[in-house]
Amino acid sequence: MALTQTPAGRPATGGDPLDVAALKADFPLLDVRVHDQRIVYLDSAASSQKPLAVLDAMDWYYRNINANVHRGVYAIAEEATRRMEVAREQVRRFINAPAVDEIVFTKNATEACNLVAQSWGRTNLGPGDAVLLTHMEHHANIVPWQILAAERGFEIRWIPLTPDGRLDLTDLDRLLDGAKLLGVTAMSNVLGTITPVRQLTDAARAAGAVSLVDACQYVPHLPTDVVELGADFIAFSGHKMLGPTGIGVLWGRRELLDAMPPFLGGGEMIRDVTVDGFTPNELPWKFEAGTPPIAEIIGLGAAVEYLEALGMDAVRAHEIDLTTYALDTLTERFGDGITIYGPADPTTRGGVLSFAFQGLHPHDISQVLDEHAVCVRAGHHCAKPLMRVLGVGATARASVYLYNDEADIDALAGALAATADFFLR
Ligand SMILES: Cc1ncc(COP(=O)(O)O)c(C=O)c1O
Repeated sequence: MALTQTPAGRPATGGDPLDVAALKADFPLLDVRVHDQRIVYLDSAASSQKPLAVLDAMDWYYRNINANVHRGVYAIAEEATRRMEVAREQVRRFINAPAVDEIVFTKNATEACNLVAQSWGRTNLGPGDAVLLTHMEHHANIVPWQILAAERGFEIRWIPLTPDGRLDLTDLDRLLDGAKLLGVTAMSNVLGTITPVRQLTDAARAAGAVSLVDACQYVPHLPTDVVELGADFIAFSGHKMLGPTGIGVLWGRRELLDAMPPFLGGGEMIRDVTVDGFTPNELPWKFEAGTPPIAEIIGLGAAVEYLEALGMDAVRAHEIDLTTYALDTLTERFGDGITIYGPADPTTRGGVLSFAFQGLHPHDISQVLDEHAVCVRAGHHCAKPLMRVLGVGATARASVYLYNDEADIDALAGALAATADFFLR
């Protein structure tokens, strides 16, 4: 195979509206049968399935150009380096970042948040300072700040929630007064709430704080423009947006990234090393220590190409339709027997449906659903402060993506009815 040939990262069908029946054929896992039934995958908020385009791109890399990057001067090594940097440009375009060297590859969103805490935070935060978070953050955007606060002695403040699961911004100005960083999720992985990111980043900037937006649930599901969002840093993971595990992204404004010290040391992050010290490399490599996840980066590039070919407006429109169908179906069928957390209006939320059902434990629900081949998540969803606000220890959570359809929601409803029969009759 010639080096220039690569599998196209395109779906079998175009978007607008999504032809879900045709799209399903791109996802081999959706053909898997469990307990002798068609799998119904409703856990994409935890990790999405991967289309053939992504699997093929990674396989192609290993079969044709497998070599380390930014080192060798032979053909396949140069091609591997080029492909990796092409993927960086694809990611830049996908989120409309102003410059490709602002795209830093990390292991996942969690590492991206830790990078900001350990590099920007360690340089800029100390006693008397404050970081403002929200009660709906994932632990990935809480614990890095708690680790650093224990060492540096700054305060952590919290934006509370309204009863319908939105951010309560009544006291925003007071909470931002003296804060140096605002950390906020763009979409809750429990409530589905889409937060008013632009309003928050504008308010943070006016108060002299930088903003870190956890866009892990947002980038895979909505058209994303980092300039429009007005953030200083944005973190997300490849595996929730059709890409492989082991690859995440931190986007940051260049002035900030330039001023930040390296996070991890070794490999490509240096320009020079002597026995007395080192000089860091340029962006973005300054933050990419060691051999990067090359196949995963190339796989993420294919995922981005796939999503772009569908069109993120079409992806979002499909999710609003399917979320509307799910909310209607579940509430009509189970009435007071089901509590779905988060905003009722599907245009202000994503397709993440956390629920309490008939007083049953979420793990029991999930286990019986599994017998019907319906995959949902049960647990605290790495959002324990939010669980405490909701007054529960755990929830069951069904989450949809572009390959789900109404038949999947019907299967969920049917399996929930069977769960109620099993435990309550
Ligand atoms: C909102 C949010 N932030 C951060 C993360 C962490 O992602 P990862 O485990 O890929 O680092 C998740 C994953 O569930 C998430 O939903």
